[in-house]
Amino acid sequence: MILIKGGKLCGATSELEVGDILIKDGKIAKIAERIDPVGEMTIINAKSLMVAPGLVDLHVHFRDPGFEYKEDIMTGAAAAAAGGVTTCLCMANTLPVADNVKTIEYILDKAKDAPIKIVPIGAITLEHKGETLTDFAALKAAGVIALSDDGSAIQSAKLVRHAMHQAHKNKMTLISHCEDDELAKNYAVNEGVVSQALGLPGRPAIAEEIMVARDVMLSVETGAKVHIAHVSTAASVAIIRMAKKVGAYITAETCPQYFALTEDEILKQGTNARVNPPLRTQDDVTAIIEGLIDGTIDVIATDHAPHSVEDKAQSLEDAPSGMIGLETSLALALTYLYHTGKLKIGEIIQCMSTHPARIVGLESGVLTEGASADIVMFDPHEQWVVDPDQFKSKARNSPFSGMELKGKVKYTISRGEIVYRDTF
Ligand code: DOR
Repeated sequence: MILIKGGKLCGATSELEVGDILIKDGKIAKIAERIDPVGEMTIINAKSLMVAPGLVDLHVHFRDPGFEYKEDIMTGAAAAAAGGVTTCLCMANTLPVADNVKTIEYILDKAKDAPIKIVPIGAITLEHKGETLTDFAALKAAGVIALSDDGSAIQSAKLVRHAMHQAHKNKMTLISHCEDDELAKNYAVNEGVVSQALGLPGRPAIAEEIMVARDVMLSVETGAKVHIAHVSTAASVAIIRMAKKVGAYITAETCPQYFALTEDEILKQGTNARVNPPLRTQDDVTAIIEGLIDGTIDVIATDHAPHSVEDKAQSLEDAPSGMIGLETSLALALTYLYHTGKLKIGEIIQCMSTHPARIVGLESGVLTEGASADIVMFDPHEQWVVDPDQFKSKARNSPFSGMELKGKVKYTISRGEIVYRDTF
């Protein structure tokens, strides 16, 4: 048994602002103003801490199977626990691609030993080739609740339309990676002043926006539940805002890199700032934050995309895109959104826990009696400097290295077990 004493409650069904939580048999047994310890139990003094539902990350790449030299399920899960994340949805761009029941079973089997909950996302198309749909019903029966070809975008509107009909029929969420391949190519950076300064062709904002517009319209037409991954531009936010006004069943996510960084970071950090979609301009950052404030953007996910040091040591044109984020996401949200007065802590927890859980139909994301004891405890004011050498992840490709952040995860509890404890 664990007794959490005197924490500031956030994301709880109870009206209490400060209270105690008793954890028994992996579940939240009781939430009350005061619970006295009985028998043998671990007591956590949470007086200066926020106590919130464990974070639910809808977008991580754990590279397992196939690219375990970058990350595997256990190291990814350890990184998640260190970041306060108690549920991760793993993207399907593994090797083999998670487009078949056997691979889903492999992931679920490995996940049994992980410290947090791992939920595999199934591929929309075979081998992520954007040509033939996978068997959604079979994937669902194997435990898949959401589908995505993230990492690549399906170019055929006809196929996406068909996928949406199938997803709707099977009651599954479709997570859309929005980029037009002909416009984005494999270019490394945003099209704009930085690409010009580097003399490189760029990935224009419109490459994302036309695909967001397409998928929003297809969602309206098919009635499918569509979640737009990693929104990075001002016009994407505007399209989603409009779509929600007309009643589209659309939800959207952004990631810390899109509200904390601009394309200028490429000039300072090189390949560690290379990500798809690319870091954009200050105007885009401002619009992303406005989208979070007015609820156009429902979710903050990480798009945790581990790559090895060797991968990232290549030239900007050749290095793979992606950055890790599990061990910095909550601190970045607190630093850039809470300490700047843009969002309240409760709103951040909604974007990082309650909303993502609801979008894919998971029961987590709220502190309530009887629920699985998935809890993050954090000090919103503690300052620390990001040092990727201390990360649990195998990867080091963080553009936030050396940055001073305000807000630190102190404990993570998953299914009633303490799976991470900060060294004080
Ligand atoms: O930068 C990215 N990296 N964006 C994606 O969509 C995929 C990811 C990866 O798998 O490395």
